[in-house]
Amino acid sequence: MVDTGFRILAIETSCDETAAAVVAEGRVLSNVIASQAEHQQWGGIVPELASRAHLERIVGVTMRALEVAALSIRDIDAIACTVKPGLVGSLLVGANFAKGIAVRYRLPCVPVHHLEGHLYSGYLANPELPLPAVVLVASGGHTLLFLLERMDRYRLLGSTRDDAAGETFDKIATLLGLPYPGGPAIEQIARTAEPSIPFPRPLLKDGTYEFSFSGLKTAVRRYVAEQGQLSDDQRAAIAASVQAAIVEVLVTKTLRAAKEFRAPCVVVAGGVAANSLLQQQLRAAAAEHGIVVAIPERQYLLDNAAMIGLVAHFKVQLHGVDRYRRLDFTVDPTPWRIHRHGIAKHRPYTTVEFSL
Ligand code: KG4
Ligand code: ZN
Repeated sequence: MVDTGFRILAIETSCDETAAAVVAEGRVLSNVIASQAEHQQWGGIVPELASRAHLERIVGVTMRALEVAALSIRDIDAIACTVKPGLVGSLLVGANFAKGIAVRYRLPCVPVHHLEGHLYSGYLANPELPLPAVVLVASGGHTLLFLLERMDRYRLLGSTRDDAAGETFDKIATLLGLPYPGGPAIEQIARTAEPSIPFPRPLLKDGTYEFSFSGLKTAVRRYVAEQGQLSDDQRAAIAASVQAAIVEVLVTKTLRAAKEFRAPCVVVAGGVAANSLLQQQLRAAAAEHGIVVAIPERQYLLDNAAMIGLVAHFKVQLHGVDRYRRLDFTVDPTPWRIHRHGIAKHRPYTTVEFSL
């Protein structure tokens, strides 16, 4: 067996992907993801179905991650698992499974914040990531803009006041009769049309790094109701116009943050980062200012365990492994306990050190 250094087996089950990965010294040896198709017919994630599907798959996915890494469980030095935020039942399956392995094989177990996984996933795209970096995390559940200042410190610059960017794609896709998840479906049909409908760009010029997408969704709902029966061309024009509106807001705010904080680098993570128009427009806008754009490859954009293993690696480097021998941590569905707007009165943005 090749000596790959300290090896972490990471487990991620916060939402509807059952995932396991092996990460050694920050290098990904395997990254296995089983996406749950059982939610498609419901147009969204059904929490109870998600927990059950995680239970059914977690052992197989973990075995496969070890197999791809060509390792046995006895070659592993630590376990890591996502403990927040997410669906509580789903988190419980992964965290309890991880603790079970930790007890059985006397291994430390590192609890990881899922959003820190997305936040640090830029390192999977570029291990030499120049700091500070502005990081946009845009997924089905979150739209967050961070300033990654140091390896162990970041600031939350803004988040969405209502719907997340991915959720907006998903809900508008449902309005248009397109399948779930809506982002890829909207992107696909948008290819054949021009963004000809001037849908609103909420909070585009408000000077903050906050987002709001529910007004856009309402505008589309109203527009669709006015049109009556939609032709394929109309549907494509709506899709292209919605995509253009969301992308313009995301690109504008991300780039403005990079300029304000003189960040040489921008990272986009989360499922929405797979969007080609977003990637294209961000790259074009960043290039004008000499800013580097790092976008992890697709397997690291969607919920995955490699990003969880990477954060665990950083935490072990920072705090030492003995801190993670206690297994008395628990799962928590909420992202942060701090009240951001309260803190914002005293400090312009919330500064978060590694939160766990
Ligand atoms: O990070 P992710 O896999 O997990 C969740 O937060 O659930 O993100 C999934 C989200 C969905 O809302 C999906 O519609 C969106 O990412 N998404 C996209 C694209 N691919 C996935 N949105 C826009 N364009 C895409 N190509
Ligand atoms: Zn996620």
